[in-house]
Amino acid sequence: MKHLIAPSVLSADFANLQRDIEMLNRSEADWLHIDIMDGVFVPNISFGFPVLQAIAKHAQKPLDVHLMIVDPDRYLADFKKAGAAVITVHYEACTHLHRTVQAIKNLGCKAGVAINPHTPVSVLEDILPDLDLVLVMSVNPGFGGQSFIEQTYQKLHKLKQLANAVNPNLLIEVDGGVGPGNIAKLVNAGASVLVAGNAVFAAEDPEKMIHQLKNI
Ligand code: DX5
Ligand code: ZN
Repeated sequence: MKHLIAPSVLSADFANLQRDIEMLNRSEADWLHIDIMDGVFVPNISFGFPVLQAIAKHAQKPLDVHLMIVDPDRYLADFKKAGAAVITVHYEACTHLHRTVQAIKNLGCKAGVAINPHTPVSVLEDILPDLDLVLVMSVNPGFGGQSFIEQTYQKLHKLKQLANAVNPNLLIEVDGGVGPGNIAKLVNAGASVLVAGNAVFAAEDPEKMIHQLKNI
């Protein structure tokens, strides 16, 4: 399978959201990555349901919702209702992760689990067969435009090995500091979904940049 590109709407121009979503619709982007931050799990607040609904109204591609919030169980049904196709929760934010994953699947969404840079992939060993996706954070979550953490490659190799044994169809997503300079190496290490915020929206021609990221 060719890798998927998921531009992060966090880096879009919120005053021209419809324009930017329409650009993503036209582009070779596969998914739209939606970062939800609560100011508690991460030191930043992004946006909530009114903005998500505005995005969903114009988006013609699956919404890949990355929940950087504590106690995500409270809002899973609301995110499904708002148009989420993929819902990813953080390992570090879920006490009863297995229950949360089942709840996401019962809603009819793909279920993802994200791990912070300090969290080893080994903690996912027992939940891996139940997951559609693992999101490996390659920066500390909270902000766009940060530098990629090089240790990520080793984590991807380990995760790919674990997944090959118990869940070969697992999607492996990488989020943070991804761009034209590291996508090839990330795909080689096992990544199948690449999130890119700053690399896309700070580019002179974002649509062309998405084409470039997709065809590396
Ligand atoms: C960071 C978010 C990312 C962010 C990526 O907490 O989860 O999705 O938008 O932005 P870049 O690609 O600029 O690092
Ligand atoms: Zn994200």
